[in-house]
Parts: sequence; structure tokens; C-alpha cells
Amino acid sequence: MAIGILLVGGFGTRLKPLTNQTPKPMLPVGGLPVTEHQLLAAKKAGITTVILATSYLSEVFIPYFGDGSKWGMQLKYAVEKEPLGTGGAIRNAAELIDLEAAKAEDEEFVIFNGDVLSHHSIAAQLEFHRKNKADITLHLISVEDARAFGCVPTDDQGRVTAFLEKMDNPVTNAINAGCYVFSPSVISDIPLNKVVSVERETFPNLVNSGRPVFGYSEQSYWLDIGTPAALFKGSRDLVNGAFAAGEGTTFGPDSLATGGSSIGANCEIGQGVRIENSIIGDNVKIGAGALIRDSFILHGSEVQADAQIVSKYLSPTENLEISPA
Ligand code: GDD
Ligand code: MG
Repeated sequence: MAIGILLVGGFGTRLKPLTNQTPKPMLPVGGLPVTEHQLLAAKKAGITTVILATSYLSEVFIPYFGDGSKWGMQLKYAVEKEPLGTGGAIRNAAELIDLEAAKAEDEEFVIFNGDVLSHHSIAAQLEFHRKNKADITLHLISVEDARAFGCVPTDDQGRVTAFLEKMDNPVTNAINAGCYVFSPSVISDIPLNKVVSVERETFPNLVNSGRPVFGYSEQSYWLDIGTPAALFKGSRDLVNGAFAAGEGTTFGPDSLATGGSSIGANCEIGQGVRIENSIIGDNVKIGAGALIRDSFILHGSEVQADAQIVSKYLSPTENLEISPA
């Protein structure tokens, strides 16, 4: 069965200050870290061995996910001292696997950008890859504005004819959705311990040299949570309009959570508290009468009684403004 690699080493710059202490893939949406949603999707497709390619705040992942047995999976961790870019990260992660054995058995790798929530069928993408005997098969979706993404034109067989990362005048609305099937030989061709971008080097080079790179188009739920607005949307979508709260969380009388808010486990919500369109971590205490709107409250924070927290990032050590972009 295919092996998964999750790219979770980026700095999450557009999400600052939310990513000051938490790497982007560990931010909770709908009560669970983005990475956990992705692991569950991988498992559903039968992928049980997954390598987390970490760099920035790498130490946050291991205490939460451990060896993966809690999810019935086998997790391994690759750590880049300095970020190696998406291609370098994939090559570095594959060092934890016997690549020659993978080649002999034609065992594919499924690579996931670590900040994407996607409901597409990974199993169907793998099937499409095998049918085409492709080197790489990219999941493609269509978006209204393709400028912030990798733009991917294909021919009528689904063969990729160019890969154009972030361009001002996109030639198509079909974009790279950030989930790739790689044949094992393509991974061993990426140089080890060098900064390499798959988007700017590997994909365009393979396409230009006529290698079989395919696009698997499936238009299902898809979201890159890379900005605060997108992160809140992702969480709201998962919570489905109402609100969600984790185990052990208690609500005082007349408290109200709305607008797709999600609240973690073991929180104490005081009397008359209002929570709107917000993401609250685990072990948070909120004093009576407080209002929390459009805010991100990190695990372990404490909110004073009657506090008005609007568009804020609150952690046990920081209290900062969230810019909406
Ligand atoms: N391990 C590791 N090392 N991971 C990295 C590194 C690195 O040096 N650099 C980035 N990543 C991870 C990030 O953590 C993220 O999960 C993923 O790679 C993609 O990086 P982003 O910074 O989120 O890229 P983007 O959103 O601008 O663009 C990418 O995703 C789009 C779809 O959401 C590209 O792949 C686009 O082509 C694509 O359309
Ligand atoms: Mg992204």
C-alpha cells in the first residue's frame, strides 16, 4: 500500500500570530488539528504508514501523535534543521523508507500539503495514477481566482502540459490542490539535503522533459487554511453552523456559543459567556460575562470575567490583534 508524506514544516507566515507557538498544521479546526483531519483521510484510503516532514516547531507534533497507534497508523517523523522546501522535504522524509524496496514493489508515495482540508477520493487518485503509469499525479480543482496557487493546464487525457506556480494572469482555473501521488523513482531523483521546490523545479522540469505527469480532477470540498479567514471558515464548515465542544468542557448558565464556534476539551465556560465565530483550544477558562468574537484562544489560556475579546489571538503568554486577511 502507498506510503504517506505530510508536508508540515512551513512557517505559516500568513497566519501569524496564530502560528507563533503552534505550527500551522497543528492549529485546531472543528476541534482537531488540521494534521489529524488529514491522517483520517489518508487512513480512509488505506494509507497507514505516514511520515511527517517537519521543520518549524517540529517538537509540537510528536507529543500529540506519538507512534500513531492511537489512530491505528504507523507514524514516523523527519526533521529538517533548516526548511528544505517542498521537494527537499519529500526527499528527506523518504530517507526513513527503503526506497529500493519501494521501487521493486512499485509502492507509490502520496504527498499532502499540510494545510489543506480535502474530501476528494485519494483511492481514486491512486487508481488514476496507476492506470496512466504516471510519474506524478496531482489532484486538481477549479477555483475562481487561481493567482495564489499553482496553475495546471492539462490536455484532454488529463496529461499536465505546464506547471505555473502563482502567476498574475492564470491560463486556467485548474489549480494544484496540494495532494500528489509520486512513483518511487521520482523521489530518488530529487537531490538529498538540498533546498528544492516541487512547484518551481520538480513539476515544471518533469513536464518539460516529457515525463508522464497527470492531473486527477475532482471537484469536492477543498480548502487551504493558510490565512486567518480561511482557517475560521474551515472550522465553521466542520462544525456545520452550530457549535462543537470537546469532552469534559462545561458551560455555566446562560452561556451561548454560536456562529460555528469550536471549543476544545476540558474548558470551563463561565456564566453568561458569549462565544461567536471563534476557535477555542483545550483547557481554556473563560470568566463569567466575557464576550469572545472572531478570535482564536490557544490551549491553556485564561479569559478574565467580563473581558471583550474581539479579533484577538490569545495565548497563555500573548494577546495580539488578528488581521483579517
Ligand atoms: N517540511 C517542510 N519543509 N514543509 C514545507 C516547507 C519546507 O521547507 N515549505 C513549505 N512546507 C509545507 C507547508 O507547511 C505547507 O503545508 C505546504 O508545504 C505548502 O506550503 P504553503 O506555504 O502552504 O504553500 P502555498 O499554499 O502558498 O502553495 C502551495 O499549496 C497550494 C494549494 O493550497 C503550492 O503547492 C501551490 O501550488 C498549491 O496550489
Ligand atoms: Mg498553503
